[in-house]
Amino acid sequence: MPKPIPEDTNLEPIETASVDELRAVQLERLRWSVRHAYDNVAHHRSSFDAAGVHPDDISSLDDLGTLPLTSKADLRENYPFGLFAVPRTDVRRVHASSGTTGKPTVVGYTTDDLDMWATVMARSIRAAGGRPGDLLHNAYGYGLFTGGLGAHDGAEKLGCTVVPVSGGMTQRQAQLITDFRPDVIMVTPSYMLNIVDELERQGIDPRSTSLRVGIFGAEPWTNEMRRTMEDRLDIHAVDIYGLSEVIGPGVAQECVETKDGLHVWEDHFYPEIIDPVTKRVLPDGEMGELVFTSLTKQAMPVIRYRTRDLTRLLPGTARPMRRIEKITGRTDDMIILRGVNLFPTQIEELVLTVPELTPYFQCVLRRDGNLDSMVVRVERAASATVDAAQAAGRHVGDLVKRTIGVTVGVEVVEPDTVERSMGKMRRIVDERPAHPRSTH
Ligand code: DLL
Repeated sequence: MPKPIPEDTNLEPIETASVDELRAVQLERLRWSVRHAYDNVAHHRSSFDAAGVHPDDISSLDDLGTLPLTSKADLRENYPFGLFAVPRTDVRRVHASSGTTGKPTVVGYTTDDLDMWATVMARSIRAAGGRPGDLLHNAYGYGLFTGGLGAHDGAEKLGCTVVPVSGGMTQRQAQLITDFRPDVIMVTPSYMLNIVDELERQGIDPRSTSLRVGIFGAEPWTNEMRRTMEDRLDIHAVDIYGLSEVIGPGVAQECVETKDGLHVWEDHFYPEIIDPVTKRVLPDGEMGELVFTSLTKQAMPVIRYRTRDLTRLLPGTARPMRRIEKITGRTDDMIILRGVNLFPTQIEELVLTVPELTPYFQCVLRRDGNLDSMVVRVERAASATVDAAQAAGRHVGDLVKRTIGVTVGVEVVEPDTVERSMGKMRRIVDERPAHPRSTH
């Protein structure tokens, strides 16, 4: 049994508001945000004008759907600071996300934006089961990536003692966990796995650490992975979501008491789900692409920003805000194999049911003649014999065929041979000669 979560007596008023109260706040803020973007950002003004819409047309939340969408390409075209709505001298900080090709996308924050971000991050850590006075080990990368500094400011605001470790130097991560005795760890789920392995290598039982809560995000992970983490570490494992264009980490957070998807902090970030092809707004409950409009951001408001993340909106449970289901994947990580759509998270779910294999796997895409093929390259568990792991690999192939309906190869490789990352793990390796996959 993981350590109990201390009672939470410090909810912000909006976290206990009624849905009607929330909607009223949203409408007022939406009207401000749309006006702010239109008045101060040439790109938004010209795209509104081209679509024949005007900020004055927004009289209800549903009217949002009439406004033009914004995409990553719009950010690139306005590189670096073209989407800022305030003078550059009022921008206190920039972050950027590294596109693997081309230019990074740059985002900016005023003093008020940084304060809002710290507030939603503090709210997230609290919802995850972190409390003032906790020691918090922050292994998200510090730098242009929003993970490190975003989590840091929120943890300080909540009243935690932050250990700003950043990513990398895995031996030291394990040592600091043992010596400093943190209550909370924030890290990508794939890097957490490396840290757990390192603890074991050092002869430390990962279930015996002081940790109570792990706040994992920045990449997709499944409920099966939650079970693995909770079992190996004897902690509560909860999901945090965010993206730099919208603010960074802290856009949505799973509550520890329900672990049933992530509450979107929709008093600041208004979510919609659209059909990625027709771009039509879909009703709550239907799967599609998540789109966000910022409601309070000053330096870089976003209007209907297409995240490319696939999920659906569900009603609030532990909070009045709507939830998103755990992200299935990004539209650009969807693999299409002989007409069947497939995401690495589906492979993760299956691989984790097989104890002879580890969660270190990659989906390798190849081309045989005119046909695309895929091989799941997965590491044998050190505790399993080569024969048992090979048999387990064949079993995974059968499971994929049976549950997803497509034939893939499974290549079982030796422990420690699949590429490790200190942050987001690369799940797809595209070895096809010339491929249309865009990068992010
Ligand atoms: O990854 C912000 C972040 C940092 C979130 C730390 C959580 C924790 P970007 O580098 O801009 O920002 O990447 C954003 O990462 O559009 C998703 O595709 C993916 N992503 C982030 N969180 C999750 C999650 C940060 N919990 C992109 N589940 C997003 C699935 C996630 N995917």
